[in-house]
Amino acid sequence: MLFLFQLPEDVLYLILSYLDSKSLSSLSQVCKKIYHFTSRDAVWRRIAKHCINTGITRQGTDLFPRIPLKDRVKVSQNWCRGRCRRETVLKWKFNLLPWLQLDSSVLYLSQAADIGAYQLRADGGGLQRKPLAVFSGHQEDVCRFVLTDSHLISAGGDGKIILHQRRSSFSVEYCAHNQEVNCVDSRGGVIVSGSRDRTARVWSLSSNRLGECLHTIPTLDRVWSVAISPSQSSFVTGTACCGHVAPLRIWDLESCQLLSCLGNDFRRGAGVLDITYESASTLLSCGYDTYIRYWDIRASSEKCVMEWEEPHDSALYCIQSDGNHMIASGSSYYGVVRLWDKRQTRCLQTFSLSSPTSSPVYCLRFNTTHLYAALATGLYALDFKRPESRGRK
Ligand SMILES: *[C@@H]1O[C@H](CO)[C@@H](O)[C@H](O)[C@H]1NC(C)=O
Repeated sequence: MLFLFQLPEDVLYLILSYLDSKSLSSLSQVCKKIYHFTSRDAVWRRIAKHCINTGITRQGTDLFPRIPLKDRVKVSQNWCRGRCRRETVLKWKFNLLPWLQLDSSVLYLSQAADIGAYQLRADGGGLQRKPLAVFSGHQEDVCRFVLTDSHLISAGGDGKIILHQRRSSFSVEYCAHNQEVNCVDSRGGVIVSGSRDRTARVWSLSSNRLGECLHTIPTLDRVWSVAISPSQSSFVTGTACCGHVAPLRIWDLESCQLLSCLGNDFRRGAGVLDITYESASTLLSCGYDTYIRYWDIRASSEKCVMEWEEPHDSALYCIQSDGNHMIASGSSYYGVVRLWDKRQTRCLQTFSLSSPTSSPVYCLRFNTTHLYAALATGLYALDFKRPESRGRK
């Protein structure tokens, strides 16, 4: 053993990185020096990439480099086993259709026509009561919103898009659609919006052309979800699947020509409610037909490469991925949140947040320690860092 620790450091790290987490943990208890060696990220990277939700993406990028990987692997085991502490963060008086975005330690939450930015409390899943900022201006409820480095862009039931500067009170609003703007995304200096009015529109985000519509695409169907590819060359629309058009279509961002339709066997009414890109060529979708689908555009546009079925036959309203093995989904009844490991066909964990009253999970967001779910009745958190101690009710 002592001989091992006389090896050059990089060789030692390489050897240690082939141990499993149990062996590493036992080894770390031998002495202070070995503890120090076995705590390094270099030793844990291989294990972390194999675990769910450690912040290491499929490509190997580390999303949270400031938190030791050893700690993240430990918390990952709680996600895997469903060990967490449940918290009701906010309850509202009337049913709402909230939406969420998480940006490091700030949670953005829409409640009716306003969006509040709340500081997350470091000691648990709660929020500071008083918001850091409130973004308002819609005459009706906010449907969805996105964050860019500089802006918060919201889409409303009043047909408007509002561009709020995140670090000032300056905002620009414009009438974007004839009916509700159901969805919005923004990347690389443009905004894409989708509406009940059966169009998707592309807007400029450059300061001298704010509110200028670059393209209008007749989608022939209500648009429920949009997402711009990380390559910034195309975007995808998820539509109601009520007409004769496929519900998942990819468009060129510059010319707005239809590039491809994904899937060819969607049932009528299989509307797509949420879409998220994992890379320029891979994306996840979910919706009324109760399936999560994983698409790889390089492999095929006709068939998805993997799919997972919601076991209770309820619609899936929202999804988020950790960029690697884990997906979290929100179902349409009883606030059911599910965790999936892409390597398994059956769901890994199920949490029912609103039982006995029923509510859809309209939106969920997670980081490596917490998951936040926005329901009609309130905002709920699952804390995987400090789970309930076992045996306690
Ligand atoms: C995740 O959320 C928790 C609590 O809301 C916060 O304390 C923590 O810093 C967040 N983690 C990261 C990596 O942003």
